[in-house]
Amino acid sequence: MSYVNDMVVEFQNRPKCSTSQKSKHSNITRLVFDEHQSDILEIAAIDIARLGGPQMPGAQLTAKCCAKEITATFNNEQLEIARGFATGRLPLVIFEGMIGIKDDTIPQALPALSDLEKEFDCLRLASRNQILLHLVGHQAFAYDIDNNGQITRLVGNFKGGGETKIENESEIENVELSSHSGLALGAHTEAPYHCAIRAVDNHSPAPSALILSARWNPLNEPTSIIPMIQVIENIGKEGCLALTLKVFKFSRSDSFVSGKGEGADGVSILEFDNNGNFALRYNSYRFSLCEDAPVSAEIAFELLKQEIALSDIVGVSLQPNNAVVINNTTALHCRDVIKDNRRLLVRLFGYSENAQPIVLSDDPLIVQG
Ligand SMILES: [Fe+2]
Repeated sequence: MSYVNDMVVEFQNRPKCSTSQKSKHSNITRLVFDEHQSDILEIAAIDIARLGGPQMPGAQLTAKCCAKEITATFNNEQLEIARGFATGRLPLVIFEGMIGIKDDTIPQALPALSDLEKEFDCLRLASRNQILLHLVGHQAFAYDIDNNGQITRLVGNFKGGGETKIENESEIENVELSSHSGLALGAHTEAPYHCAIRAVDNHSPAPSALILSARWNPLNEPTSIIPMIQVIENIGKEGCLALTLKVFKFSRSDSFVSGKGEGADGVSILEFDNNGNFALRYNSYRFSLCEDAPVSAEIAFELLKQEIALSDIVGVSLQPNNAVVINNTTALHCRDVIKDNRRLLVRLFGYSENAQPIVLSDDPLIVQG
């Protein structure tokens, strides 16, 4: 798979097998802050970062209050975008017009993860992401079994697999397929995959959204997003119905805490909420069919893979002055192999108001995985 290398955002065109195509640009929505709004955002992000970042009790409330203050200054277009994402209508929103990092020098090599987790600008970007999530009706959270229960995930090549080897990489036997490696990651939504909206069998639903910004991205390597509405339409009613059958299975995610979290049999790929909106869970390198799956599911699964391969990709080149929030139930994301090992993204998960997780802690919000 090849990706767009445009500086900001562009679509990759692929041949289509469907006749029903929407405007290629209908999936790109930018929310551009004015100077006053970006100042409010910056001040609150610094406040939360000084507190210790999104993990600290009280950070959530500060983020919520700041989002409320900014929302009060929104014009109609900005309000429409924020509501559009909050209600699940928009698959992604790109935030622009934010304050970057002044006089920043890109290091010679990516610092250690333990140092970056304490670095002020990483905390600031994570805190800003927490506020941005609130602006679009979501709340930052972490799973108990994933990412060591940390709300902030730093996405970088800490474990090898990138185009250029990292120190000691030759000693690593199997590079893990996770955001802590440099490997290419095929199209996926974020785990866990047991359910998408309400908790099932003691598992909280998958994240409703993820938000990403960049601490460093020297080569403008894009984050690739595949909005799924067109794919779902192309699959058709029968195919969609087959994808709601609980006849699929997935393997365990590498980012889970050692000894916790498992793969599972008998899950669906698609589900629908009470409003008829679809929610998807899928991972091109972890999902397969159960042995007893009916032919209809087998056909739909193949069709899903084909349509994903043919779909348009939105490529977003992240930098410290922008961010992208992705609906994790209506869009997939993926990436090419990391070329510059200093690329470092700052990611948070968010739950929408519809999500019904098993809450273990309210502040910070930690849920059962
Ligand atoms: Fe991911």
